[in-house]
Amino acid sequence: MRSEQDPLAGCRILVAISGSIAAVKLPALVSALAQRGAQLRCVLTPSAARLVSPVALASLSRAACHLDEDQWSHRAPRPLHVELAEWAELVLLAPLSATSLARWVQGSGDTLLSSTLLATEAPVLAAAAMNTAMWGAPGVRRNWDQLQAFERVLPLGPAAGLLACDRQGAGRMAEPQQLLLGLETLRLHGWRRDWQGRRLLVSAGPTREWLDPARCLTNPSSGRMGVMLAQAALLRGAEVDLVHGPLNLDPLLLEGLHVHPVESGAAMGQALEQLQPAADAVAMAAAVADHGRAAPELQKLSKQDLLASLSAGWCEVPDLLGQLVARRAAGQRILGFAAHSGDVLPQARAKLLRKGCDLLFANPIDQPQAGFGVNSNEGWLLGPGERELRIQSAGKFAVAHQLISALGALLDPLMLPAEAPREGLAGRRAAADP
Ligand code: CTP
Repeated sequence: MRSEQDPLAGCRILVAISGSIAAVKLPALVSALAQRGAQLRCVLTPSAARLVSPVALASLSRAACHLDEDQWSHRAPRPLHVELAEWAELVLLAPLSATSLARWVQGSGDTLLSSTLLATEAPVLAAAAMNTAMWGAPGVRRNWDQLQAFERVLPLGPAAGLLACDRQGAGRMAEPQQLLLGLETLRLHGWRRDWQGRRLLVSAGPTREWLDPARCLTNPSSGRMGVMLAQAALLRGAEVDLVHGPLNLDPLLLEGLHVHPVESGAAMGQALEQLQPAADAVAMAAAVADHGRAAPELQKLSKQDLLASLSAGWCEVPDLLGQLVARRAAGQRILGFAAHSGDVLPQARAKLLRKGCDLLFANPIDQPQAGFGVNSNEGWLLGPGERELRIQSAGKFAVAHQLISALGALLDPLMLPAEAPREGLAGRRAAADP
């Protein structure tokens, strides 16, 4: 749905579709982009035009859909591939077939799609899709490896799964949900994979502490903020471990992450302890339930017994963030979170000192567009030396990119953060919040 905060609203996106069966997913994706207010043009190779209807794409994109035979026309003042290449602010190349990959890497422009790719200077999100054996073929591997060095390209390798050719293995195009996040990443951050070679450990979602087999203590966290952090880092080149409690979001958003589902705070603590040594950085976004039962009831309590039992038998869930800080190796950077109502900043400042993490993102949970269960967030990022950065209200993925930039800047000062953190955290102490 349209939102002023949407980085894709109003953006001119060229959707380039080549011949892989994953092309059948594109009309729904084009429709989703149109509903978000993107301006769209579609280009199809001849093989893609046999798999998916150009008429449907024209209708869904609200614009003409272009085929090879449209490339040269005595009615057009400029060649179509040049016009499209210059019109586009972003290119979504999905699916990218083995043939179109080979043409692109070799610099061949013998179709409308391939010549448009050569002519454009816009960033390209390229999502490969093909049969498993084709994906493993030496020629395809070589071409894909060469593509990694292309400027302005964000390549998304295929995922593993059951393919339309009935092979089980790598070859499935990245999910449309991740393609949308990839496009947003190109808008919010750009195509540089500044987290390449790094490993991030993220916790997300609520935890549950059971009272009896029918009731638990938990909270309304959906897990979206943590999952957006994980995807932002992944799309910027990181390997990401995600330890998560019960999530309330589309499971396809977990694509590409190493996921470790848990339920209780104790289980989350164990998973984090196991994964922490391999991580360059940790983001503790989980909303850990504060108290649990030392011994949960094995049988369901009656409502009267439940009330009576609530007054005793609780034990505090250990502070997992505190444990991470205490255990960390030199150089590992840790981002904590603080969700507060009322006057957020004084509470957050005290919490940063108490927890001892490098960065703390403090966000209000009593504002309509921040906190639990909504798509946007805002707050303050507190850092070393009492530095503070106001994070303006934005989609959670946009906020995630800012936090990942700030964390990256602490890991390596050469990893320049995006605009806002560069000013606020690496430099001066920010002015008081208006
Ligand atoms: N956290 C944690 N383990 C807990 C509780 C919280 O690791 N048992 C982490 C959260 O993931 C978050 C940070 O600590 O990164 C702050 O969580 P918050 O709930 O704001 O603070 P608490 O430590 O629970 O303190 P209080 O509720 O008293 O403010």
